[in-house]
Amino acid sequence: MSKIPLSVPHVKGNEWKYIKDCLDTGWVSSVGSYVDRFENALKDYVGTGFAVAAVNGTASLHVALIVSGVAPGDEVIVPALTFIAPVNAVKYCNAEPVFMDSDDTLCIDPKKAAEFLSEFGEVKDDGFTYNKKTGRRIKALVPVHVFGHPSDMDGLLDVSRKYNIDVIEDATESLGSTYKGRQTGSFGKLGCFSFNGNKIITTGGGGMIVTGDEKLAKRVRHLTTQAKSDPFEYDHDEIGYNYRLTNIQAAMGVAQMEVLDEFVSIKRKNAALYSRLLSGLDEAEFLGEKEWAKGNRWFYTLKVPAGHKAPLMQRLIREGIEVRPVWKLIHTLRMYQDCLAYRIEKAVEAYETCINIPASVSLKEEEIVYVAGKIKEYFKG
Ligand SMILES: Cc1ncc(COP(=O)(O)O)c(C=O)c1O
Repeated sequence: MSKIPLSVPHVKGNEWKYIKDCLDTGWVSSVGSYVDRFENALKDYVGTGFAVAAVNGTASLHVALIVSGVAPGDEVIVPALTFIAPVNAVKYCNAEPVFMDSDDTLCIDPKKAAEFLSEFGEVKDDGFTYNKKTGRRIKALVPVHVFGHPSDMDGLLDVSRKYNIDVIEDATESLGSTYKGRQTGSFGKLGCFSFNGNKIITTGGGGMIVTGDEKLAKRVRHLTTQAKSDPFEYDHDEIGYNYRLTNIQAAMGVAQMEVLDEFVSIKRKNAALYSRLLSGLDEAEFLGEKEWAKGNRWFYTLKVPAGHKAPLMQRLIREGIEVRPVWKLIHTLRMYQDCLAYRIEKAVEAYETCINIPASVSLKEEEIVYVAGKIKEYFKG
């Protein structure tokens, strides 16, 4: 068996054709019909009124936070268990992350967020919630739909309404996942996607900001295009960013959108096979999904007893199977150690016990059988 990667892109559709079209016509840079087509395809798919393409998911989160009104000195509630990008984006705004625990979906725990706010939050006359301990305004909450599993949106939206805190969804891993039948990314004031090489669809690198609010969408477009305020003169009315996506990348995105549903169904089928093959194993749990969720199953997570995480990973890597630990908790990293972290417990357990196993769309049935077999072999000693 040759090496089995964790997650690689699947490029088998119209990508060549559409990219060639860009090269043939000279429309290679940051405007072009593919950018429009990609934005339209994504907004129609997610069901938001507006979508703006951007250079990557991190930049998308940065701009989404700015336009939602996150200001220097504000606090933003983020998960402790996440890829670092949304937390860094909070810092790019000179705002402060407040780290929150996860629930058993690995996503932010709405009950803990509610508890934190009832303990520390105070709604003041200006209608905003302030942290009684720090005096800072708590402006936004960024749920990450971890590994493609939707966060418990009802709970989070309740918190958002009660405390007037904006929800900015980090849906970078969850394109194609639904919560109670509705696409992730469409619940928040804004939602952000990534088309990085390991995501369910890729443009090499890329991102998208979606929203139902036309004014916000216009401002996102303005900020991602250097805040240019005149089509001819070099006039700019604020400090903007060059966060645009190129037409070449968007061409790849259009082709990848055409096969997104097929990719989701392959990922779900492969998840079901892993789940079946690993179901008899007492020592390990292949994480499934809540009854209200229909995930894109972007990444597959295996939960094992804490002492087994490292040796199991080493064994699988020796057997040619690429695996990865889940992220180090961000509040334990040097740059974020002094930030507020509210009773992080489940996320600690997840870090100590969870690993990700191969999940590419191109994964073959015999490879899944091989990976599951090697996991079982490890536990049988
Ligand atoms: C949860 C999460 N947020 C944000 C990002 C950032 O996206 P990008 O790499 O496109 O900047 C990623 C992945 O890369 C991610 O997994």
